[in-house]
Amino acid sequence: MRNVKWTSLFSLMLVFVLVLAACSSDSESGEGGNEDEKNDSEEQVTIVYARGMDATKATDKIIEAFEEKHPNINVEFREMPSDSGAQHDAYVTSLNGKSSEIDVMDLDVVWPAEFAQAGYVMALDRFIQKDGIELSEYNEGAVSAANFNGKQWAMPKFIDAGMLFYRTDIVEEGNVPKTWDELLTKAGELQGEKNTKFGYLMQAKQYEGLVTNAVEYIASYGGQIVDENGEVVVNSPEAIKGIKKMVEVANAGFVPENITTFTEPESHTSFIEGESPFIRNWPYQYALANDKEQSEIVGNVGVAPLPEGDAGSAAALGGWMSAINAYSEHPKEAWEFLKFMTGPEGQKISAIHGGLAPTIPSLFDDEEVLEANPFFKEEGFVNALDNAVSRPVVPNYPEISEIIQIEISKAITGKVTAEEAAQNMQTKIEEAMQ
Ligand code: GLC
Repeated sequence: MRNVKWTSLFSLMLVFVLVLAACSSDSESGEGGNEDEKNDSEEQVTIVYARGMDATKATDKIIEAFEEKHPNINVEFREMPSDSGAQHDAYVTSLNGKSSEIDVMDLDVVWPAEFAQAGYVMALDRFIQKDGIELSEYNEGAVSAANFNGKQWAMPKFIDAGMLFYRTDIVEEGNVPKTWDELLTKAGELQGEKNTKFGYLMQAKQYEGLVTNAVEYIASYGGQIVDENGEVVVNSPEAIKGIKKMVEVANAGFVPENITTFTEPESHTSFIEGESPFIRNWPYQYALANDKEQSEIVGNVGVAPLPEGDAGSAAALGGWMSAINAYSEHPKEAWEFLKFMTGPEGQKISAIHGGLAPTIPSLFDDEEVLEANPFFKEEGFVNALDNAVSRPVVPNYPEISEIIQIEISKAITGKVTAEEAAQNMQTKIEEAMQ
């Protein structure tokens, strides 16, 4: 009797287990995800997510929210160098060695073509189709920046545009500099107010951020590096004017003497420690400056478009997108995480806790997002995002970037004139693009 009972209970359980297994394998068959032959939906899987240093709490919050929804997937955060170029080189070394160590990684907006062509990342189209992700709900430019040879290699996570941040307790309203020349005057006048050490902070180290700063000066005077037809046009009077202004600002008495060692972290740290009335940085600066645990200037931060040159104000287009390592051993779980992080929930967390501008335009109407980032609805910000200037879009971008970095650095340190820098960039970029 006892035995009979146990046998029937056992067979009942077996049936239950089989039904469950059938259901879960049903939901996993179909398009995509068939690299993972085994049915591991309940198996504990750890994936590695890599991105540059996050000075805000956004990454931790995203991982926390994701793991809560997916108890069987652990996400391990691998912090990469914050310098975009150094981060790029670390990925290239790892992926050239076909390493499966990283599953999901963030790509700078200037890398997808290169990574796709090198076979480092997986095409996401079948996942996108399978889960019915509507790319039309995303910012068109951000989507197309990750589209190469007709395939989608990454999902856009946030857009960056260079902005001017200022101390509202030092700079009176209506007194925010509108032009580079006004900035030169005001940064000089305000240096020292409220114990500030400097007047202006920017990124002038020889690295990717220098290129974005240079693009802004050049474009604000009407110049371009490569035009819409792919012609190199940097040796122009407009571009030269822009380079000259950049050299003038970087050498002004009110910027830190070692400004040529400044990337984003050096400049944002100085700003949140109350050392400068002005800084050029990306939108995350706002959330960071209002983070009580890190900042001494909470509640005293304003945002404005970057100063104008002869041709107006120009912001460089930046931003990051998430991709899956082509050699990942957990593509399904990697996709689940990527989908969450770049989807509305993940982007909302990024916007609220990281101050990052979403690539899903509807999030700009979200009350909580706006409460955390009131400037998201200001005309100046919307215009800066809409008109942000791209860096050259080419698969050998790192080579082009290096040429720009070297020549602009030389101009800032007085080794070449602005004219010579423009001429050298023209010749070298032309050669590199052949
Ligand atoms: C920001 C931008 C990125 C850019 C980098 C330069 O992270 O989003 O596109 O390359 O800054 O430092």
